[in-house]
Amino acid sequence: MFRNLTKANILRSNNASLLGSKPVLRFQTRKFTSTIDSAAGNLASTAASLGMDTVIKLVKKVEKASFLIKDSAVKNSPASKEAFGIIEDDLHKLNNNIFKLLDTKHTLLSAMARYYFHLEGKRIRPTIMLLISKAIQASISNTTTSNVDPRQLQLAEITEMIHTASLLHDDVLDAADVRRGVPSIQQQYKSNKFSILAGDYLLAKASLSLATLENHEVTKLISTIISDLVEGEFMQTKTENAENFDYYMKKTYLKTASLIANSCRATAVLVNAPPEIVEISTQYGKNVGIAFQIVDDLLDFTGTSDQMGKPVAVDLSLGIATAPVLFAKEQFPELSSLIKRNFQQSGDVERALELVRKNDSIKRTQDLANYYAQQAIQSLSKLSPSVSKEALVNLANLVVHRNQ
Ligand code: FPP
Ligand code: MG
Repeated sequence: MFRNLTKANILRSNNASLLGSKPVLRFQTRKFTSTIDSAAGNLASTAASLGMDTVIKLVKKVEKASFLIKDSAVKNSPASKEAFGIIEDDLHKLNNNIFKLLDTKHTLLSAMARYYFHLEGKRIRPTIMLLISKAIQASISNTTTSNVDPRQLQLAEITEMIHTASLLHDDVLDAADVRRGVPSIQQQYKSNKFSILAGDYLLAKASLSLATLENHEVTKLISTIISDLVEGEFMQTKTENAENFDYYMKKTYLKTASLIANSCRATAVLVNAPPEIVEISTQYGKNVGIAFQIVDDLLDFTGTSDQMGKPVAVDLSLGIATAPVLFAKEQFPELSSLIKRNFQQSGDVERALELVRKNDSIKRTQDLANYYAQQAIQSLSKLSPSVSKEALVNLANLVVHRNQ
């Protein structure tokens, strides 16, 4: 059996009351959003009725407005300031390179593919990749500081494009109207087709860039990421095993951790790091990736949409059972039938939330995430001391203590 739910359906469902009187998927109240809205309007239809010069001007306005949304709270915490500080210049280069790569004669296609790269976001994935690249180089050359190899920077660009492509597709699957505090692509451009095509374009550009690295093992690792993303997302659509914790963990690895694990592995392979360092890099990426997704699932219960830049409390409404519910089910077996019917009967979502809050499921979920973060930190122990290694330790702690 497959779930046949979308966030648009949720909006229309009686679950709206759960989150207060305002619609679940209302836009964020950030003043920038309306600037972007009015600047861009519906570019898709505008493009047809206006001259190209006008469209280009509109796109530029959107880009200017989008740049205003930066520096998230995660990025401003002391631990992350340190982690991000070390690789800030590389992150800027990464963004500029991606912008250049996404240049086409089709202005609208470029604008859509670049859309999320205007927003600062958390940039957790490239930050991890750049820091692990530096830590690996430092360990190999036995120094405490080192630079990111240009090929490693290119690899971080590739994985960020793949990740963003998956979000463009995911927002169509989930009918999500908001991401990172701004309208999602299909909402902004009023077109699912555009969101899919922009995602495809990102994937194509990432593949082209990957080919230029001319490293078969790296190509295999990055292709595995794409395959795992699809498999993880597919597993999430099925309900047969939704109550099974192992199934949840496997899906968590495939949909989120595989990208971080395999890209961290690839960055070590790319510079011919010794097998032990390749393994350290993989284990760090895998464990921090699992911790990251578990916290994401937790924040869907405990976070606010303002913090997250996207609607919260939607997993249950989408029929998805994550760690907090699976833990609660151990004490409240009645949750089993709610999971089986995807929380779709009237009152199911409210009842599930009530039961999750009644016991220690939230704490157990946080403990589980902490366990994986500690595993990630542990896996670094054999890496020689460096500034980047220290930042990776802080980053693993930050991932589990974030509120956005
Ligand atoms: C976000 O999950 C989505 C993912 C982590 C992966 C989505 C993967 C696909 C759509 C498969 C296609 C892949 C490619 C490369 C095109 P979420 O919905 O739980 O989180 P959210 O609240 O941030 O949307
Ligand atoms: Mg989604």
